Amino acid sequence: MNPIYDNPLRPQFHFTPAANWLNDPNGMVYFEGEYHLFYQHHPESTVWGPMHWGHAVSKDLVHWEHLPIALYPDHNGTIFSGSAVVDWNDSSGFFDGKAGLVAIYTQTEMIPDSNLSRQRQSIAYSKDNGRTWTAYSGNPVLSDERFSDFRDPKVFWHQDSKRWIMVLAAGDRVCLYHSPNLKEWTFASEFGAEEGSHAGVWECPDLFALPVEGSTGKEKWVMIVSIGDDETLPEGSRTQYFIGEFDGIKFTNDHTPESVLWMDHGRDNYAGVTWSDAPELTGARLCIGWMNNWKYANLIPTAEWRGAMTIPRKLTLRERADGIRLVQEVPDEMRKLRLDGFDWRDELIVPGSNLLVGHKGELFEISAEFELDTASEFGFKLRTSDENETIVGYNTADSQLFIDRTKSGIIDFHTQFGCRHSSQLEPDDGRIKLQLWVDRSSVEVFADNGGLVMTDQLFPLEGSDGIEIYALGGVVWLRSLQIYPLKSAYAP
Ligand code: FRU
Repeated sequence: MNPIYDNPLRPQFHFTPAANWLNDPNGMVYFEGEYHLFYQHHPESTVWGPMHWGHAVSKDLVHWEHLPIALYPDHNGTIFSGSAVVDWNDSSGFFDGKAGLVAIYTQTEMIPDSNLSRQRQSIAYSKDNGRTWTAYSGNPVLSDERFSDFRDPKVFWHQDSKRWIMVLAAGDRVCLYHSPNLKEWTFASEFGAEEGSHAGVWECPDLFALPVEGSTGKEKWVMIVSIGDDETLPEGSRTQYFIGEFDGIKFTNDHTPESVLWMDHGRDNYAGVTWSDAPELTGARLCIGWMNNWKYANLIPTAEWRGAMTIPRKLTLRERADGIRLVQEVPDEMRKLRLDGFDWRDELIVPGSNLLVGHKGELFEISAEFELDTASEFGFKLRTSDENETIVGYNTADSQLFIDRTKSGIIDFHTQFGCRHSSQLEPDDGRIKLQLWVDRSSVEVFADNGGLVMTDQLFPLEGSDGIEIYALGGVVWLRSLQIYPLKSAYAP
């Protein structure tokens, strides 16, 4: 293994930059057999600074090849978040009638003779599968000086109206635009000033249609909106979504304005958006998020790199008693990393015992189904040592799934990192199903068949590699359990 990936905290199956700072995923697009992943990158430092677009490609979403920086700051400013599309029919005229890639992104710069900055949208194109990019000579292509926060364009082709649609975050709302050619943009509508959570500035929107699982032909539109850190709240930056309708001009939310749906109930999944043109995904969208939180992103205790992405996730829509909700699943490709697994069935878990004694690991996948009995709490302790543990548990009295990382290892870099947080999870027919993906510095929990997700970073001390299953206050039935040790994506 390349020694730079051998650090005890270096994620082994999550994307990280080879070195230096990473935040939002950008410009994800699939083209000619490659998944492209660009990202907010500061190549000079491990803290946020003048933004570039870093670049990597993958054929399978598991193994990533780093490529040279795709977009550098220029006379229009630094390169903030944005998207990329395949311009299949050369609507832009950049590609001599062929198909090519167009990136649409925010440029941030100081307004001359003032101490204010402004954000405007630019485009660049690539005729060589994203290896080199040319900024359009007519940049910027969209500005609106009324908004000081005006960023993160996400563009898609809307088949019904036969034009490009852009969603863009403008402070406390999302603005929508349309264009025939990616160069000229016309305002269409705006959404959200009165809807959802406004605990922080709105950032990184996305909008896409998905069929509702199990329905005959019912389709809904999903609007994703990330919201920045509010220092007075413990959660920090997080991502909400809305379900509704889109008619080519306007997005209408199906919910009451005050209702809030969260993408992830953990602390470390931000700025996630979906891939353009991903293949073989009829009925699903592929998404990836930045596995971090603006509350402490610049302080996390890693060495030569800082920041990682979540596992890519397949998004679908499921109709539940309380409405239509996003469901997230780990793509099958990730299971390539499985080594020989272990299996248990119908074990009674009693307080003080540990069925998993002798099992150890830093990288593993767990699938478990519990049947509630008299235990008041049960679950897993991960990355344990004499002093350290991270608990993924379920509290039966108040039906709460929780992650407790108060003793997870290094927590002192920020007062709010060492925390326990939870989310409502009703048992399904008396059962709780959990799937966990554990890497060197994270845990991702998928409960309720992907209906509830919690993503958290952890920074365990070296040697914290024990695993336990536990019950408190009574017993719980473990109806099934599989544990798969995972190999590193860097392993040969
Ligand atoms: C979200 C964000 C975006 C912005 C980028 C800057 O995390 O604040 O709104 O474009 O990061 O790096």
